[in-house]
Amino acid sequence: MTVKDLVRPLPGVRRLSMLRQRIAFCSSESFWERRYAQGLTSGHGSYGALGEAKATFLNAFVREHSVRSVIEFGCGDGHQLSMADYPRYVGVDVSRTAIALCKRKFDGDPSKSFFLYDGVCFVDRGRLFTADLAISLDVIYHLIEEAVFERYMEHLFNSGERFVVVYSSNTVMRGTAPYVRHRHFTTWVDANCPQWSLAQVTGGPNTGPGRADFFVYERSESGRK
Ligand SMILES: C[S@@+](CC[C@H](N)C(=O)[O-])C[C@H]1O[C@@H](n2cnc3c(N)ncnc32)[C@H](O)[C@@H]1O
Repeated sequence: MTVKDLVRPLPGVRRLSMLRQRIAFCSSESFWERRYAQGLTSGHGSYGALGEAKATFLNAFVREHSVRSVIEFGCGDGHQLSMADYPRYVGVDVSRTAIALCKRKFDGDPSKSFFLYDGVCFVDRGRLFTADLAISLDVIYHLIEEAVFERYMEHLFNSGERFVVVYSSNTVMRGTAPYVRHRHFTTWVDANCPQWSLAQVTGGPNTGPGRADFFVYERSESGRK
């Protein structure tokens, strides 16, 4: 890729700032670790009205479906989780700093556990990391590398016993920041997860291109492990 290719889709000053971001970007994992280590948060999607909308949807879902346990792939700094009402919870994340923040924030809460996630070294043949509901909130469009995306999706859908809820965009867009890659992730699920069906799509609180919605997948009875 040439410098010209990097800047072509972007006008003026924004083009330069985006170029700087693209040059500085190494990997999705190091991006997030660096971000948290600098004292930054999981992002505006986990705070304010957007965070509250996610919590409202998920808390109602957990209640309505008598979900007993939740596992989250990409739990972040724990702010979103502080609005959650789950009986039992496991959060995993690629960022050591994020896990340390959650460990501190939920110190003394026996219903919540946290683990550092390394997709390459995650081999769960004994199905230890499973829950009634597996969730992925505002993570999929941050999975830049193809192999990282594939592994993440496999682990996410393997870990859900009954449901998987994904809160993400589901479209392809060009000209985004280097740490954003919108994908048509439902195509991957259709091709790779025959035991799962898309039961419901609920519009998210945002509008415009790249908006995230709630995608609820249900495992078929025959596909239960
Ligand atoms: C925008 S934040 C969302 C955090 C949280 N889910 C929430 O809704 O508040 C994205 C999170 O995904 C994590 N992440 C990025 N790549 C990941 C991967 N391959 N596996 C697991 N987590 C990942 C980041 O470290 C970050 O904490």
